Amino acid sequence: MILKEATIREIKTRMERYPSHRSAVLPALTAAYKQVGYLTPAIYRELARVIKVPYVEIMEAATFYTMFPKQEVGRYLIQVCHNISCSLRGADNMITYIESKLDIKLGETTPDNMFTLISVECLGGCSAGPMFQIDDTYYEDLTREKIDKILTDLRAQAEQDSR
Ligand code: FES
Repeated sequence: MILKEATIREIKTRMERYPSHRSAVLPALTAAYKQVGYLTPAIYRELARVIKVPYVEIMEAATFYTMFPKQEVGRYLIQVCHNISCSLRGADNMITYIESKLDIKLGETTPDNMFTLISVECLGGCSAGPMFQIDDTYYEDLTREKIDKILTDLRAQAEQDSR
């Protein structure tokens, strides 16, 4: 068993809100992702058992959404939007800047396991691009200076959390 009792309880509580178990797939994936940090076929199997939805439907939903990483990622997953509005407002330059600042390429994780950098499709913050999402927070109208501060603050936060 990968999922903790608390996660399964949360999923079952959410299931009660929906008329169909199928509607609980995304909340269940979200709960599993929040516990584990990424999703795997073994987790899809557990979720299928818990919410009584076919494995393939869990897998289809999980693989459709880029917000669910499918492999272990760093403490912070930086999801940079590279869709049209953000691209027109400099997303490519921001990606290049983050890559050079963290000394990694898209899809990679820093050696200290602090940051993973990926690019994603539109996150719905088009009017404030370029932007990225880390955990549940959107960071918008990014500039190099803003990125420097965000990354420094997150490192400090992680250090504080580890004490
Ligand atoms: S195009 Fe980047 S948030 Fe929509």
